[in-house]
Amino acid sequence: LDHHPFDLNEAGHLAIGGLDSTVLAEKYGTPLYVYDVSVIRENCRAFIGTFQELGISAQVAYASKAFSSIAMLQVIKQEGLSLDVVSQGELYTALEAGFPADKIHMHGNNKSVDELEMAIEHDIGCIVIDNFHEIELIRHILERKNKQMNVLLRVSPGIEPDTHDYIVTGNEDSKFGFNLADGQADDAFLELQHNNLIHFKGLHSHIGSQLFDTEEMLLAAKILFRKLADWHEKYGYTPEVLNLGGGFGIRYTREDKPLDYSEHVKKLSAVVQEQAAYFNLPIPEIWIEPGRAIAGNAGLTLYTVGSIKEIPGVRHYVSVDGGMTDNIRPALYNAKYEGILANKAAAPVRDTVSIAGKCCESGDMLMWDLPVPVIESNDILAVFSTGAYGYSMANHYNRFPKAAVVFVENGEDQAVVKRETYHDVVKNDISYE
Ligand code: LLP
Repeated sequence: LDHHPFDLNEAGHLAIGGLDSTVLAEKYGTPLYVYDVSVIRENCRAFIGTFQELGISAQVAYASKAFSSIAMLQVIKQEGLSLDVVSQGELYTALEAGFPADKIHMHGNNKSVDELEMAIEHDIGCIVIDNFHEIELIRHILERKNKQMNVLLRVSPGIEPDTHDYIVTGNEDSKFGFNLADGQADDAFLELQHNNLIHFKGLHSHIGSQLFDTEEMLLAAKILFRKLADWHEKYGYTPEVLNLGGGFGIRYTREDKPLDYSEHVKKLSAVVQEQAAYFNLPIPEIWIEPGRAIAGNAGLTLYTVGSIKEIPGVRHYVSVDGGMTDNIRPALYNAKYEGILANKAAAPVRDTVSIAGKCCESGDMLMWDLPVPVIESNDILAVFSTGAYGYSMANHYNRFPKAAVVFVENGEDQAVVKRETYHDVVKNDISYE
């Protein structure tokens, strides 16, 4: 467990936040997402605490798409972070959680009129504008409501980071943002200058997710700075905010090199200070948007082992009671995970098995070739680092109810999302007799 933030207890069971994971599985049923809240807090502090130590004015906005629930956003609020939402559903959750509206930033490449109206009505802190259509929509809503709004422009700096193609976003051939290279960003900037209800605070870019190379984000910072300095020189514009997005990689498996968030924040701050000095501009506020890095390693999923199929000399298929409905990442991105038997966490490894989900398709495999002790039905399997993009991407394929979420902190456990029932599964169905 050296690279996952969990321990073994005296019974030889996996412990999370000081509690026996097998007891949690028994109490709440499986599949079960369990978060150690103290790890969420540590992750928040690694980012926000470092900016504070450096005396740099910054906002760390938790990207709530990674995992949003009322309890989660309450913890994020307690830690003093801001919040990134990308939909009305995420905004609604934030408001229900009592999140301060002025610390909410809204993203999206196709924000609807309803979404923008809700954001404007609640005076959220900032809208990150993605495209020309959106400028028009915002302009109309602000005029109609006689309101004002802070905005950033999302731009594509033309960087292709080294990660899965589906989660690359900062390259030029992307659905997101205004391209810098072909003058789109300049046109958008000029359009905003003519509007006194829209306060243009600066630029945003998010170049991709699950990144380990911090150089790419530093390069994006420099590219954005050059553009801001250009506007300063040509139009006398002074930037207030530089938002460099999220994407900080986490450790799923031994192969992933962990990123030291505090170190990264220091490098980023140094680059921004250096650029500001070079262009003789005031140091803008630095905003970042970590999602996975806040929630990912704080959560794990517990499953109960069911059927075991042995194909002699080939493979053992061990099926669990969840799969691509609670964690679609292996099927969607070929994502790799590590896991252990929570009830035999101290037992010697005896076998190598592959963990199958319960959905009716061959692609529903959670892990290939996992080393385990002697494995039997009713064992509890824990899969690590499922705290980000697990519950938030859960789905109802095969009409499985969504699993429950439990928070653990200071030796106490509390359900924060109820397990769905079969009634929930059919509740929107309308009969046709
Ligand atoms: N900011 C923006 C504008 C984003 O698009 C994203 C992620 C983030 C922040 C947060 O990125 P993070 O720090 O979590 O890497 N479902 C995929 C990840 C998609 C990320 C999309 N945007 C996965 O499971 O890997």
